Amino acid sequence: MDTLHEIDRRRTFAVISHPDAGKTTLTEKLRLFGGGIRTAGAVKSNKIKKTAASDFMEIEKQRGISVATAVMSFEYDGKLINILDTPGHKDFAEDTYRTLTAVDSVILVVDSVKGVEEQTEKLMHVCRMRSTPVIVFINKLDREGRPPLELLDELEEKLDIRVRPMTWPINMGSLFKGVYNLHEENLYLFKPGKTTVEEDRILVKGLNDPALDTHLGTDANRLRENVELVEGVYDPFSVEDYRAGTQAPVFFGSALNNFGVRELLETFVSIAPRPVPRPTNTRFVDPVETTFSGFIFKIHANLDPRHRDRIAFLRVCSGTFERSKQFLHVRQGKQVRFTSPYSFMAEKKTIVDEAFPGDVVGLYDRGDLKIGDTLTDGEELEFRGIPAFSPSIFREMVNMDPMRSKQFHKGLKQLTEEGVAQLFTIKNGNRLIVGTVGELQFDVITYRLEHEYGAAARTQPLPYTVARWVTADTPAALEEFMRYRDRNIVWDKDDKPVYLAESPWVLNSNIKDYPGVTFHETSEFKTAVQGRA
Ligand code: G4P
Repeated sequence: MDTLHEIDRRRTFAVISHPDAGKTTLTEKLRLFGGGIRTAGAVKSNKIKKTAASDFMEIEKQRGISVATAVMSFEYDGKLINILDTPGHKDFAEDTYRTLTAVDSVILVVDSVKGVEEQTEKLMHVCRMRSTPVIVFINKLDREGRPPLELLDELEEKLDIRVRPMTWPINMGSLFKGVYNLHEENLYLFKPGKTTVEEDRILVKGLNDPALDTHLGTDANRLRENVELVEGVYDPFSVEDYRAGTQAPVFFGSALNNFGVRELLETFVSIAPRPVPRPTNTRFVDPVETTFSGFIFKIHANLDPRHRDRIAFLRVCSGTFERSKQFLHVRQGKQVRFTSPYSFMAEKKTIVDEAFPGDVVGLYDRGDLKIGDTLTDGEELEFRGIPAFSPSIFREMVNMDPMRSKQFHKGLKQLTEEGVAQLFTIKNGNRLIVGTVGELQFDVITYRLEHEYGAAARTQPLPYTVARWVTADTPAALEEFMRYRDRNIVWDKDDKPVYLAESPWVLNSNIKDYPGVTFHETSEFKTAVQGRA
């Protein structure tokens, strides 16, 4: 098999959105248009539904189901598309942040009625940190949404990216007639309730074609004015800027009505980057290198407590992953071999013999693999860019049964290694703090500690809302800060000091008061002075 050709045709991405904007619907429709599924409904049934916190077991079950959709692969126009699934539930946002480290680009779905929402901003912030290329799909044009120009302004302002509309909508809601493709200069007419994937393209020869008037009536002139305005305001589309993550092409459509999905997919396959080089602690790894490397970005526990095995998801970064071949597990410095790795083509889990850069492989693991671990053909390098992000809810975990202390510690360590939450310790003691992005995780942790490890635990609320990894210009400056803020300092899993603040306001005043200290948003940064005495 020609490896270069295989790399060249891979497109690995994620669809992201604020919950309810239409991520699940669009993902499903992309697969429908791409021929990856025959009927809609397959992805939908895997969605983590909006469920009360007390129903977390139901969510865990759904998360279990969603293992099957961790990655959805299909072929379209000669390209091999890998869509990495991200949980829609906001309490699992950290899963999504980590998945974003394993993609080469994203499609961001925005609800035309609601515009840019909180989660949209957070997700885009993570994409911007890594300069991930973004295509925006403004969804639900069949509803009375906000004016398109207002939405575009909001995107630019809140997401800190230049936008370039690729299509322009003709009305919205009950009067929605379709979109004009600014690039192809074609008209696409909207038919509500469309369930098929046939073409809805009307060939017109640009804006002056009288066919526009025939199809749109009086709306044709307004479209002409709008397009003139848009062309004057927005820079032309540039593939280079898109790939550099500085310009986002924008499409308008309605995923539910199969409208706008084909153009999105066609543009995506023609502009989205193939697997890109990735930074490690020693050098950049190019996908075309012949030696294998990859990293673990997600771990899923077996829901059956009698089986402790887990599934680790590996993103292949360079070379070829081969079944049963020996690889170096860099952190542990030992050789590992996987006899039944699987991939996710055509809605089925199938054992794979080989996988290429851009692919995701599921590996059975008995507890050796951690999120962020690197596997290689022998080179001792570790991929960067799988940082921990600041949690927003912190609680102390209290062991209720002193006889089960070992199980309590082991359980917490393993669950946090799986990425359920982050574990911090308070210096000079055994006190453990868990940080999460959602309340739900505490229910998941206490339930799983009890059922899988036989350890009873309760949680004690703490007043913090933000974490910052701290370094300083000099050891003395760091020491002074940590002495003064002793009560707010905890240590993360790698023994890095972390400052917990009660509010962004408190954080900002500390930033002002301690100019020699740097407060890092994530656990990964180029080190200045850090460490434990
Ligand atoms: P998410 O994954 O981002 O959370 O969103 P999801 O696709 O589940 O969509 C959220 C809701 O929005 C769903 O309705 C879905 O049917 C609806 N939706 C998606 N695309 C469109 C669209 O283009 N137009 C309109 N009008 N609605 C759209 P629901 O009632 O929550 O779920 P369901 O009962 O339809 O499954």
